[in-house]
Amino acid sequence: MKIRKAVFPVAGLGTRVLPATKAMPKEMLTIVDRPLIQYVVDEAREAGIEHFIFVTGRNKGVIEDHFDRMFELDETLKGRNKTAEMEQLARFQPGAGETSFTRQQAPLGLGHAVWCARHIVGNEPFAVVLPDELVLNSPGALKQMVDIASGLDANSNLVAVEEVPMEMTHQYGICSVSGRHPSHANAYSIDGMVEKPPKGTAPSNLSITGRYILQPEIFEILETQERGAGGEIQLTDAMIGLAQNQPFFGVKFEGERHDCGSKAGFLRANIAYGLQRADLNETLRADMLRYLGK
Ligand code: UTP
Repeated sequence: MKIRKAVFPVAGLGTRVLPATKAMPKEMLTIVDRPLIQYVVDEAREAGIEHFIFVTGRNKGVIEDHFDRMFELDETLKGRNKTAEMEQLARFQPGAGETSFTRQQAPLGLGHAVWCARHIVGNEPFAVVLPDELVLNSPGALKQMVDIASGLDANSNLVAVEEVPMEMTHQYGICSVSGRHPSHANAYSIDGMVEKPPKGTAPSNLSITGRYILQPEIFEILETQERGAGGEIQLTDAMIGLAQNQPFFGVKFEGERHDCGSKAGFLRANIAYGLQRADLNETLRADMLRYLGK
Protein backbone atom coordinates (compact mmCIF):
# COMPACT_ATOMS: atom_id res chain seq x y z
CA MET A 1 0.00 0.00 0.00
CA LYS A 2 1.46 3.35 -1.04
CA ILE A 3 0.19 6.52 0.66
CA ARG A 4 0.77 9.61 -1.49
CA LYS A 5 -1.78 12.08 -0.18
CA ALA A 6 -2.49 13.56 3.26
CA VAL A 7 -5.53 15.57 4.32
CA PHE A 8 -5.10 18.26 6.97
CA PRO A 9 -8.48 19.38 8.36
CA VAL A 10 -7.94 22.99 9.48
CA ALA A 11 -11.45 24.44 9.38
CA GLY A 12 -12.34 24.11 13.09
CA LEU A 13 -13.01 27.11 15.32
CA GLY A 14 -10.53 26.26 18.08
CA THR A 15 -12.92 27.31 20.83
CA ARG A 16 -10.82 25.68 23.57
CA VAL A 17 -8.02 28.18 23.08
CA LEU A 18 -10.03 31.38 22.69
CA PRO A 19 -9.32 34.29 22.57
CA ALA A 20 -6.06 33.32 20.80
CA THR A 21 -8.05 31.81 17.93
CA LYS A 22 -10.58 34.59 17.44
CA ALA A 23 -8.83 36.08 14.41
CA MET A 24 -5.91 33.64 14.05
CA PRO A 25 -6.25 29.97 13.02
CA LYS A 26 -5.50 27.50 15.81
CA GLU A 27 -3.21 25.68 13.38
CA MET A 28 -0.96 28.77 13.25
CA LEU A 29 -0.30 28.75 17.00
CA THR A 30 3.43 28.54 17.50
CA ILE A 31 5.41 25.81 19.23
CA VAL A 32 8.86 27.37 19.81
CA ASP A 33 9.34 29.01 16.38
CA ARG A 34 7.06 27.09 14.02
CA PRO A 35 3.28 26.98 13.62
CA LEU A 36 1.54 23.69 14.40
CA ILE A 37 0.64 23.19 10.75
CA GLN A 38 4.28 23.20 9.73
CA TYR A 39 5.17 20.42 12.17
CA VAL A 40 2.53 18.12 10.71
CA VAL A 41 3.38 18.93 7.11
CA ASP A 42 7.04 18.11 7.89
CA GLU A 43 5.89 14.88 9.56
CA ALA A 44 3.87 13.96 6.47
CA ARG A 45 6.77 14.73 4.14
CA GLU A 46 9.02 12.46 6.22
CA ALA A 47 6.38 9.73 5.76
CA GLY A 48 6.65 10.02 1.96
CA ILE A 49 3.55 12.16 1.34
CA GLU A 50 3.67 13.94 -2.02
CA HIS A 51 0.40 15.88 -2.04
CA PHE A 52 -0.72 18.02 0.91
CA ILE A 53 -4.47 18.72 0.99
CA PHE A 54 -5.79 21.37 3.38
CA VAL A 55 -9.47 21.63 4.25
CA THR A 56 -9.73 25.27 5.28
CA GLY A 57 -12.51 27.62 6.32
CA ARG A 58 -13.15 31.31 6.94
CA ASN A 59 -10.20 33.22 8.45
CA LYS A 60 -7.72 30.49 7.46
CA GLY A 61 -6.10 32.21 4.47
CA VAL A 62 -2.87 32.77 6.37
CA ILE A 63 -2.27 28.98 6.32
CA GLU A 64 -2.17 29.12 2.51
CA ASP A 65 0.20 32.10 2.69
CA HIS A 66 2.49 30.22 5.07
CA PHE A 67 3.15 27.59 2.41
CA ASP A 68 3.70 30.13 -0.36
CA ARG A 69 6.90 31.93 -1.30
CA MET A 70 7.13 35.46 0.05
CA PHE A 71 8.99 37.48 -2.52
CA GLU A 72 9.80 40.55 -0.36
CA LEU A 73 11.08 38.39 2.49
CA ASP A 74 13.23 36.25 0.15
CA GLU A 75 14.75 39.35 -1.47
CA THR A 76 15.42 41.05 1.87
CA LEU A 77 17.08 37.97 3.37
CA LYS A 78 19.18 37.60 0.21
CA GLY A 79 20.23 41.27 0.32
CA ARG A 80 21.32 40.87 3.94
CA ASN A 81 23.15 37.56 3.35
CA LYS A 82 20.93 35.72 5.83
CA THR A 83 21.73 32.32 4.34
CA ALA A 84 20.66 30.17 7.30
CA GLU A 85 17.21 31.79 7.40
CA MET A 86 16.84 31.44 3.61
CA GLU A 87 17.76 27.76 3.77
CA GLN A 88 15.30 27.17 6.58
CA LEU A 89 12.46 28.75 4.62
CA ALA A 90 13.36 26.76 1.50
CA ARG A 91 13.45 23.48 3.46
CA PHE A 92 9.81 23.57 4.52
CA GLN A 93 8.46 25.09 1.29
CA PRO A 94 6.31 22.53 -0.58
CA GLY A 95 7.10 22.27 -4.30
CA ALA A 96 4.91 23.72 -7.04
CA GLY A 97 1.64 21.82 -7.34
CA GLU A 98 2.18 19.79 -4.16
CA THR A 99 -0.52 21.60 -2.17
CA SER A 100 -4.29 21.79 -2.64
CA PHE A 101 -6.78 23.83 -0.66
CA THR A 102 -10.48 23.19 -0.44
CA ARG A 103 -13.05 24.78 1.79
CA GLN A 104 -15.41 23.48 4.45
CA GLN A 105 -18.06 26.21 4.44
CA ALA A 106 -19.28 25.43 7.97
CA PRO A 107 -17.53 23.51 10.77
CA LEU A 108 -19.88 20.51 10.73
CA GLY A 109 -17.33 18.13 12.24
CA LEU A 110 -14.13 16.26 11.43
CA GLY A 111 -15.94 13.64 9.34
CA HIS A 112 -17.49 16.35 7.19
CA ALA A 113 -14.12 18.12 6.82
CA VAL A 114 -12.49 14.91 5.55
CA TRP A 115 -15.41 14.34 3.13
CA CYS A 116 -14.80 17.84 1.68
CA ALA A 117 -11.46 16.50 0.34
CA ARG A 118 -13.02 13.56 -1.56
CA HIS A 119 -12.54 14.91 -5.10
CA ILE A 120 -8.91 15.83 -4.49
CA VAL A 121 -8.07 12.48 -2.85
CA GLY A 122 -9.86 10.40 -5.48
CA ASN A 123 -9.86 6.62 -5.37
CA GLU A 124 -6.75 5.77 -3.34
CA PRO A 125 -5.82 5.25 0.33
CA PHE A 126 -4.82 8.48 2.07
CA ALA A 127 -3.64 9.84 5.40
CA VAL A 128 -5.51 12.23 7.68
CA VAL A 129 -3.36 14.28 10.06
CA LEU A 130 -4.80 16.52 12.78
CA PRO A 131 -2.52 19.54 13.21
CA ASP A 132 -3.43 20.18 16.83
CA GLU A 133 -1.91 16.87 17.90
CA LEU A 134 1.87 16.72 17.80
CA VAL A 135 3.95 13.61 18.46
CA LEU A 136 7.50 14.25 19.58
CA ASN A 137 9.53 11.41 18.09
CA SER A 138 11.84 10.51 15.26
CA PRO A 139 10.62 8.89 13.09
CA GLY A 140 7.27 10.68 13.39
CA ALA A 141 3.98 8.92 14.08
CA LEU A 142 2.81 8.97 10.44
CA LYS A 143 6.08 7.45 9.17
CA GLN A 144 5.71 4.66 11.76
CA MET A 145 2.18 3.99 10.46
CA VAL A 146 3.13 4.15 6.77
CA ASP A 147 5.95 1.66 7.39
CA ILE A 148 3.49 -0.79 8.94
CA ALA A 149 0.85 -0.12 6.25
CA SER A 150 3.31 -1.00 3.48
CA GLY A 151 3.30 -4.62 4.71
CA LEU A 152 -0.49 -4.95 5.18
CA ASP A 153 -3.26 -6.00 2.78
CA ALA A 154 -3.99 -3.21 0.31
CA ASN A 155 -7.51 -2.63 1.72
CA SER A 156 -6.32 -2.05 5.30
CA ASN A 157 -7.09 1.01 7.44
CA LEU A 158 -4.99 2.25 10.34
CA VAL A 159 -5.52 4.64 13.20
CA ALA A 160 -2.92 5.80 15.72
CA VAL A 161 -3.82 4.75 19.25
CA GLU A 162 -2.56 5.70 22.67
CA GLU A 163 -3.09 4.05 26.06
CA VAL A 164 -5.04 6.24 28.48
CA PRO A 165 -5.89 5.53 32.14
CA MET A 166 -9.01 3.30 32.28
CA GLU A 167 -10.87 5.84 34.44
CA MET A 168 -10.40 8.50 31.72
CA THR A 169 -11.72 6.44 28.79
CA HIS A 170 -15.13 8.20 28.86
CA GLN A 171 -13.40 11.30 27.45
CA TYR A 172 -12.03 9.63 24.30
CA GLY A 173 -12.84 7.59 21.21
CA ILE A 174 -11.95 4.03 22.28
CA CYS A 175 -11.12 0.94 20.20
CA SER A 176 -12.33 -2.58 20.77
CA VAL A 177 -9.48 -4.97 20.01
CA SER A 178 -9.58 -8.60 18.84
CA GLY A 179 -5.85 -9.38 18.77
CA ARG A 180 -2.46 -8.29 17.50
CA HIS A 181 -0.97 -8.41 14.03
CA PRO A 182 1.34 -11.48 13.83
CA SER A 183 4.34 -9.49 12.55
CA HIS A 184 3.77 -6.09 14.17
CA ALA A 185 3.50 -6.30 17.97
CA ASN A 186 2.29 -2.70 18.25
CA ALA A 187 -0.51 -3.10 15.64
CA TYR A 188 -3.83 -4.22 17.15
CA SER A 189 -6.71 -5.66 15.10
CA ILE A 190 -9.69 -3.44 15.75
CA ASP A 191 -13.21 -4.82 15.50
CA GLY A 192 -15.09 -1.80 16.81
CA MET A 193 -14.84 1.78 18.08
CA VAL A 194 -16.94 3.77 20.47
CA GLU A 195 -16.95 7.54 20.95
CA LYS A 196 -16.81 8.59 24.65
CA PRO A 197 -18.13 5.34 26.24
CA PRO A 198 -20.00 5.79 29.56
CA LYS A 199 -17.74 5.21 32.60
CA GLY A 200 -16.97 1.54 33.22
CA THR A 201 -18.06 0.35 29.75
CA ALA A 202 -14.94 0.98 27.62
CA PRO A 203 -13.82 -2.13 25.68
CA SER A 204 -10.11 -1.20 26.14
CA ASN A 205 -7.93 1.74 27.18
CA LEU A 206 -6.70 2.38 23.62
CA SER A 207 -7.81 5.85 22.55
CA ILE A 208 -7.97 7.05 18.94
CA THR A 209 -5.53 9.89 18.21
CA GLY A 210 -5.05 12.28 15.30
CA ARG A 211 -3.33 10.15 12.64
CA TYR A 212 -5.24 7.92 10.23
CA ILE A 213 -4.65 5.95 7.04
CA LEU A 214 -8.00 5.33 5.38
CA GLN A 215 -9.38 3.67 2.28
CA PRO A 216 -11.41 5.86 -0.11
CA GLU A 217 -14.59 3.88 0.72
CA ILE A 218 -14.80 6.12 3.83
CA PHE A 219 -16.14 8.88 1.54
CA GLU A 220 -19.20 6.80 0.54
CA ILE A 221 -19.97 6.24 4.22
CA LEU A 222 -19.43 9.92 5.08
CA GLU A 223 -21.77 10.92 2.25
CA THR A 224 -24.78 9.71 4.24
CA GLN A 225 -23.31 9.88 7.75
CA GLU A 226 -25.79 11.30 10.28
CA ARG A 227 -24.67 13.86 12.86
CA GLY A 228 -23.33 12.18 15.99
CA ALA A 229 -21.80 13.39 19.28
CA GLY A 230 -21.95 17.19 19.67
CA GLY A 231 -24.23 17.46 16.61
CA GLU A 232 -21.16 16.99 14.37
CA ILE A 233 -20.48 14.52 11.55
CA GLN A 234 -17.96 12.32 13.32
CA LEU A 235 -15.10 10.53 11.55
CA THR A 236 -15.18 7.80 14.22
CA ASP A 237 -18.81 6.93 13.33
CA ALA A 238 -17.84 6.48 9.66
CA MET A 239 -14.78 4.40 10.62
CA ILE A 240 -17.03 2.04 12.62
CA GLY A 241 -18.87 1.35 9.34
CA LEU A 242 -15.62 0.87 7.44
CA ALA A 243 -14.27 -1.59 10.05
CA GLN A 244 -17.23 -3.88 9.32
CA ASN A 245 -16.02 -4.53 5.77
CA GLN A 246 -12.26 -3.91 5.76
CA PRO A 247 -9.29 -4.76 8.02
CA PHE A 248 -8.66 -2.05 10.65
CA PHE A 249 -5.57 -1.72 12.80
CA GLY A 250 -4.69 0.47 15.77
CA VAL A 251 -1.00 1.41 15.82
CA LYS A 252 0.50 2.19 19.20
CA PHE A 253 3.15 4.68 18.10
CA GLU A 254 6.45 5.55 19.75
CA GLY A 255 6.65 9.07 21.11
CA GLU A 256 4.87 11.52 23.36
CA ARG A 257 1.59 13.01 22.09
CA HIS A 258 0.73 16.63 22.82
CA ASP A 259 -2.84 17.92 22.53
CA CYS A 260 -2.02 21.45 21.42
CA GLY A 261 -5.72 22.27 21.04
CA SER A 262 -5.97 22.58 24.84
CA LYS A 263 -4.26 25.31 26.83
CA ALA A 264 -2.31 22.97 29.13
CA GLY A 265 -1.27 20.72 26.23
CA PHE A 266 -0.13 23.70 24.18
CA LEU A 267 2.05 25.02 27.01
CA ARG A 268 3.47 21.55 27.72
CA ALA A 269 4.36 21.10 24.06
CA ASN A 270 6.23 24.41 24.01
CA ILE A 271 8.30 23.29 27.00
CA ALA A 272 8.92 19.78 25.62
CA TYR A 273 9.91 21.02 22.14
CA GLY A 274 11.93 23.89 23.63
CA LEU A 275 13.93 21.52 25.84
CA GLN A 276 14.74 19.42 22.75
CA ARG A 277 16.41 22.40 21.12
CA ALA A 278 20.16 22.67 21.68
CA ASP A 279 20.01 26.47 21.31
CA LEU A 280 17.31 26.85 23.97
CA ASN A 281 17.70 23.96 26.40
CA GLU A 282 20.14 25.53 28.85
CA THR A 283 18.40 28.87 29.29
CA LEU A 284 14.92 27.28 29.37
CA ARG A 285 15.95 24.84 32.10
CA ALA A 286 17.50 27.62 34.18
CA ASP A 287 14.38 29.77 33.81
CA MET A 288 12.06 26.91 34.74
CA LEU A 289 14.04 26.10 37.89
CA ARG A 290 13.97 29.78 38.81
CA TYR A 291 10.18 29.95 38.39
CA LEU A 292 9.81 26.82 40.51
CA GLY A 293 11.98 28.45 43.20
CA LYS A 294 14.76 25.85 43.04
P1 UTP B 1 -10.92 19.75 17.04
O1 UTP B 1 -12.24 19.37 17.54
O2 UTP B 1 -9.74 19.53 17.91
O3 UTP B 1 -10.87 21.28 16.61
O4 UTP B 1 -10.69 19.12 15.61
P2 UTP B 1 -11.81 22.48 16.86
O5 UTP B 1 -13.24 22.15 16.65
O6 UTP B 1 -11.24 23.58 16.05
O7 UTP B 1 -11.47 22.77 18.39
P3 UTP B 1 -12.34 23.17 19.65
O8 UTP B 1 -12.82 21.89 20.24
O9 UTP B 1 -13.44 24.11 19.21
O10 UTP B 1 -11.35 23.86 20.52
C1 UTP B 1 -9.47 18.56 15.17
C2 UTP B 1 -9.06 19.14 13.82
O11 UTP B 1 -10.13 19.05 12.90
C3 UTP B 1 -10.41 20.30 12.33
C4 UTP B 1 -9.85 21.35 13.30
O12 UTP B 1 -9.45 22.52 12.59
C5 UTP B 1 -8.67 20.62 13.92
O13 UTP B 1 -7.48 20.81 13.18
N1 UTP B 1 -11.87 20.45 12.13
C6 UTP B 1 -12.73 20.21 13.16
C7 UTP B 1 -12.33 20.83 10.89
O14 UTP B 1 -11.55 21.05 9.94
N2 UTP B 1 -13.68 20.99 10.71
C8 UTP B 1 -14.56 20.76 11.71
O15 UTP B 1 -15.78 20.91 11.47
C9 UTP B 1 -14.07 20.37 12.97
